Amino acid sequence: MSSTSLPSDFALEPHPDGLQLRWLSQPKMTPLRIDFLSGKNAFRAAHASIKDEAIARACGLGKPNHSSLLDATAGLARDAFILAWLGAQVALNERHTVVRALLADALQRLYEQHPDWQTRLYLLPIASLAEVATASFDVVYLDPMYPSSDRKVKAAVKKDMQMFHQLVGPDADADDLLAPARRIARQRVVVKRPQHAGFLGGVVPHTQVVSKKHRFDIYFPE
Ligand SMILES: C[S@@+](CC[C@H](N)C(=O)[O-])C[C@H]1O[C@@H](n2cnc3c(N)ncnc32)[C@H](O)[C@@H]1O
Repeated sequence: MSSTSLPSDFALEPHPDGLQLRWLSQPKMTPLRIDFLSGKNAFRAAHASIKDEAIARACGLGKPNHSSLLDATAGLARDAFILAWLGAQVALNERHTVVRALLADALQRLYEQHPDWQTRLYLLPIASLAEVATASFDVVYLDPMYPSSDRKVKAAVKKDMQMFHQLVGPDADADDLLAPARRIARQRVVVKRPQHAGFLGGVVPHTQVVSKKHRFDIYFPE
């Protein structure tokens, strides 16, 4: 289980552009802030299409009856924002209290400018999949942290994500997510994995969508 408190090496502080996280022992590192209105998220969304985004194809966006989606491991909601932008109604589940605080702040800023987004991308008040009703979302999306002790993963972590990885750490219990996700999903569960990674819980998927950077393993409900 990941730690959910603010480690002593970090500071969470208000900034005119939004709540931000600073890594105190890495003062040169740019503070971490979630921003749906400008920067990388907004740029990617502005250029995104279902055809070009492997994640959207994996989640079945554009098909009838594939609209409500639970991102059960929301993180910085980069993936969730793209999925919402491309038409899904996305509920976010995140257990780390610091990440939740960053998400809540970024969503508030998004809603102030675009009130219609309150139903397109929103944070759930719960933290455990056990509390989510059976068959309550069309799609459940999972992207747990992959062990950062893995050499190839460590090398691939981009600079802007190093702080996030340091804060959250590995999701050692990630394998436990698949069974509840398959109970909750009406249509499919989509698991994002690094190319070389094993299957979540060792369970072979029904099908896959493979992109240059990632693999999306797709499971249908039991
Ligand atoms: C790799 S990040 C997700 C990144 C995300 N897909 C994005 O685009 O920003 C994984 C996140 O899942 C969260 N997480 C892992 N297991 C969880 C669980 N069982 N319940 C809720 N959140 C979980 C972690 O705290 C972490 O923030």
